[in-house]
Amino acid sequence: MPYKDLRAFLSTLRQSGELVDITRPIALQYDVAKALAKNSSVEGPALMFKDNGTEFPLVAGLYGNRRLALIAFESTEDTIHDRVAKGIDTPIAPVDFDGPAPCQEIVLTGDDIDLTKLPVPTYSPKDGGPYITAGIVVSEDPDTDVPDIGNYRFQLHDAHTLGVFSAPNHRFGKNIAKAVARKVPLHGAIVIGVDPIIAYSCQVQSGDATNDWFVAGGLRGEPVELVKAVTSTLKVPAHAEFIIEFVVDSDDQRVEGPLGEYTGYYTPASLKPTAKVTAITHRRDAIFQGLLTGKPITENHVLKQIPFEVSILRQLRAQFPTISDLSITSSGGVQTYVVIAMAPRYEGEARHAILAAMASNLHPKWVVVVDPDIDIRKSSEVEWAMSFRVKPREDVFVVDRTATAPLDPYTDGGYSSSVGIDATRPFGVEFPDVSEVPDWRSFDLPEISRGK
Ligand SMILES: Cc1cc2nc3c(=O)[nH]c(=O)nc-3n(C[C@H](O)[C@H](O)[C@H](O)COP(=O)(O)O)c2cc1C
Repeated sequence: MPYKDLRAFLSTLRQSGELVDITRPIALQYDVAKALAKNSSVEGPALMFKDNGTEFPLVAGLYGNRRLALIAFESTEDTIHDRVAKGIDTPIAPVDFDGPAPCQEIVLTGDDIDLTKLPVPTYSPKDGGPYITAGIVVSEDPDTDVPDIGNYRFQLHDAHTLGVFSAPNHRFGKNIAKAVARKVPLHGAIVIGVDPIIAYSCQVQSGDATNDWFVAGGLRGEPVELVKAVTSTLKVPAHAEFIIEFVVDSDDQRVEGPLGEYTGYYTPASLKPTAKVTAITHRRDAIFQGLLTGKPITENHVLKQIPFEVSILRQLRAQFPTISDLSITSSGGVQTYVVIAMAPRYEGEARHAILAAMASNLHPKWVVVVDPDIDIRKSSEVEWAMSFRVKPREDVFVVDRTATAPLDPYTDGGYSSSVGIDATRPFGVEFPDVSEVPDWRSFDLPEISRGK
């Protein structure tokens, strides 16, 4: 059974000691971020900031580490990839919610709209202002009306205006560009506080024709219940804590940024479109959500890692069925550094797999292929393979002028280059046996169990 809403997830976390209340006053400017960064360094629980200077509690750190991600998916490390792949392969259509929706218990429009009453933190010292970082944007393709959901950041400009940033290769950005070209308004809704699977499903890499509610339903194993927004025809999750409805205003460009981003660097300030808020709706006793982004590892990275890994693994396996696992490291921003475990079937296949990974929407700078005996989630194992299964002149190659991620701080006008490393044993050639002590994993040695 999936979590019905954020509250169901919070109650599971609380029961297992994975949600801690902070009842003393904590400032939204910087101190929430400091608490989250410190908590994240010890892979701590989610935190609920109850006294944050607003009437709403602020929960954050919900995607703070892999342990919390596994609780969200009700999975284990052994089953998580299959669980997500099966969900992607079994889409489930959304349904209309019957009756008055919880997310619209309170409806604020016109002069009642006031974003400054929400607990929106300022995270890093050079940030351009407070940022909504845990929002899921719903928007529709103006040509096809197909809905997209994705995580996007929003800078709080004033009581009813937000700054918008979407990379041009992301669907929200494409929808904005189409609406501008067609001279039609683009409506959107920022969804805050949902069943965590909806949040993780935003990061599944799917084509522009995909109705993302089907993906979210598939991952949940049950349909997402939707309700019509108050000021547009968009549909939003009925059980969300908050919905911020808006229209993108591309004529009113304002300075957006800087923001400490997932690369670990500030993205510079620049003129960007604004979002004019047309309604804020929320549940009674609504809970707002924060999310730390910045130098890896943050929630941003945990949120992306599992859906990205499964998405790219599925794509590559269609062509290279002997790929057994794929890791996209958090330290590489869940973007630049991909490690693939595979048993090559012919000379040069590892290199083909590397080129296919380089051509994926990730735009990685480093792709390493190792044999299946390497634990690709342990950097020491990967480095061991690179040390003793690689002849650099033969097995390392550079592809010039590959496109980089839009937020990469070190690019050459949008281009970079990508390095491929074939760290598999040479194909069809005798190679020395690994000198590992046999059966040590199952060897009984209670003397070192240290009371565990
Ligand atoms: C917490 C978080 C915040 C993000 N903020 C942005 C953003 O402001 N702009 C952007 O273009 N992508 C942002 N992303 C990345 C996109 O959400 C992500 O790549 C997603 O796959 C885009 O999906 P879509 O093209 O289907 O909308 C963010 C990701 C996360 C996890």
